[in-house]
Amino acid sequence: MSFRTLNLTDELHAYVVAHNPNTDEVAGALIEETRRVLPDNAGMQIAPEQAGLLTMLTRLVDAKVAVEVGTFTGYSALSISRGLADGGKLICFDISTEFTDIARRYWDLAGVTDRIELRIGPAQKGLAELPADPVVDIAFIDADKSSYPTYWDELVPRMRPGGLLVIDNVLRHGRVLNPETTDDQVIVGFNTMVRDDPRVDSILLPVADGITVARVR
Ligand SMILES: C[S@@+](CC[C@H](N)C(=O)[O-])C[C@H]1O[C@@H](n2cnc3c(N)ncnc32)[C@H](O)[C@@H]1O
Repeated sequence: MSFRTLNLTDELHAYVVAHNPNTDEVAGALIEETRRVLPDNAGMQIAPEQAGLLTMLTRLVDAKVAVEVGTFTGYSALSISRGLADGGKLICFDISTEFTDIARRYWDLAGVTDRIELRIGPAQKGLAELPADPVVDIAFIDADKSSYPTYWDELVPRMRPGGLLVIDNVLRHGRVLNPETTDDQVIVGFNTMVRDDPRVDSILLPVADGITVARVR
């Protein structure tokens, strides 16, 4: 069998994290507070190794317009905002002020607040209300799994050619092989749909819980 992605031990994971950006003081404090204040929800936060990837992808497309669906306590938004081009903006959607009030504090600390516009309310509605022009450089989808197909349908036509859609949790901790919940089943169908969508080229990366990167043609 050919070589495949390592199963990371805790020690090797720590090594990976130590050799990635976005594990600075602000990000570290945000991770710590999220775990302490929201222990039951902290697992929703992106992994540190995904944070660096988001910043890098945002830089690679020289993003001026970015969209995030699912902000929670703000780590992914912090990472995207750090990669934006001068004058760039990130529009974030979330339904929770409890979670995003924490995000706002850390964006302030990191000095990125002026680059982020947070819209509270269901992203299904928020995305549908965005202008139809294809101007989005990068979009990150990380909210309720059952709506991933809706988010995809709303976002793809709004992406500029060469823009990137980045989608988290596409492996469902391995349950894509044996779906246990409706959300798992939605993601199984979603992954096939993305792979076969002629409007994009996509790769599914086994980073953290699986992250798909799709480039709009
Ligand atoms: C997995 S967490 C996002 C984690 C975040 N990207 C981070 O880096 O920490 C999912 C978020 O989606 C939000 N959410 C759930 N349903 C939503 C909806 N219909 N519209 C917008 N946000 C929603 C939740 O409030 C939660 O904060």
